[in-house]
Amino acid sequence: MSVGFRAVQWNRDKLVYDGILIAAISLFIAGFAAIHWQLHPPKKLPDAIDIWIRAFGTCAFLMLTAILSIGPLARLDRRFLPLLYNRRHFGVLTFIVATMHFWFLVEWYLVQNNLPNLATELTTWKDYAKFIDFPFKALGIAALLVLFLMAATSHDFWLMFLTPRIWKALHMALYVAYGLVMMHVALGIMQDERTLLIPLMLGGGFASVAALHLMAGWREWGPDKGIAVSGEGWIAVGPPRSIPDKGACIVAAPGGERIAVFRDGEQIGALTNLCAHQNGPIGEGHIIDGCVTCPWHGYQYRLEDGCAPPPFTEKLVTYRARINRGIVEVDPRPLPPGTPAAIQCSRDAM
Ligand code: HEM
Ligand code: FES
Repeated sequence: MSVGFRAVQWNRDKLVYDGILIAAISLFIAGFAAIHWQLHPPKKLPDAIDIWIRAFGTCAFLMLTAILSIGPLARLDRRFLPLLYNRRHFGVLTFIVATMHFWFLVEWYLVQNNLPNLATELTTWKDYAKFIDFPFKALGIAALLVLFLMAATSHDFWLMFLTPRIWKALHMALYVAYGLVMMHVALGIMQDERTLLIPLMLGGGFASVAALHLMAGWREWGPDKGIAVSGEGWIAVGPPRSIPDKGACIVAAPGGERIAVFRDGEQIGALTNLCAHQNGPIGEGHIIDGCVTCPWHGYQYRLEDGCAPPPFTEKLVTYRARINRGIVEVDPRPLPPGTPAAIQCSRDAM
């Protein structure tokens, strides 16, 4: 794939994913507004607008929580992988929902002819030193700017232009946005409203994101334990049959780099565990139609040399492999991307 711009590619799966997401968002917002309307019927137009501010804000917070949970959930249980497939559209929709939350707030000021008050509130610098009257809207604006940056760079063009490593590092800012939103709500509405629902939503959201990351991290840590390294520095993986056919064992090099050691019948090959697309965990994928297939979005690579089949041009780093006394071993020194390195095992060695 080149760095040239290509319009977003739609397919049936993406349309179904987006359709379900938009339906769920609409249902949530309509349900939230209907319940609020029943419990606290608005007396004036600004009260009605306030319901929409809350509905869109709560929806954006829950969407952010979901986005940050999808990654660890997919690691813990493969059934969540379809959610990961189109996560970028989920992110862009979150930005749109958060913008609607902001837009209704502007509307709230406009219908009362006092938009300048918002500017005054944001530029009363001495309030930034207070806890109770902190201008919490500024935290919301900062979170919205981060979401804008994420949405604006979500296209594959930016992924290729910036390289997956930098792109991924940039998109870690989503955690910053989540922190800003937590403070935005804690210093804002939570200070006025004496309802338990808001602290429950914030605490529950934060606790589930943190717990899922810890659980997935604990599982990830597994391959790092007990690496047997031979005198020449090769890593012992195990007997050929210990590698699942058409699947992989993931081992960690002494520097922490993960290596996916695949077996396709009698062929064994070692590739970096990082997909060239978005750094997805290649070793959690399978060999499909003769190619190693990334579990995240289905990018494919040949086992023998880590190259994507033509017309694609992505190449993965490969590693040398050998069989030593019936044990598959891998040299953790990376070879240049696309270097042929897979080996054939004799039937006796299997
Ligand atoms: C990523 C962006 C944002 C998210 C996820 C977010 C989320 C939220 C949430 C969850 C609430 C509490 C809703 C409730 O009461 O149930 C809230 C309240 C509020 N937000 Fe945001 N917010 C964001 C950006 C902004 C921005 C940019 C502004 C304005 C500059 C803003 C202004 C407000 C106001 C005024 C309230 C209180 C509403 C009320 O009094 O009823 N928010 N926000
Ligand atoms: S990360 Fe997208 S296909 Fe691998």
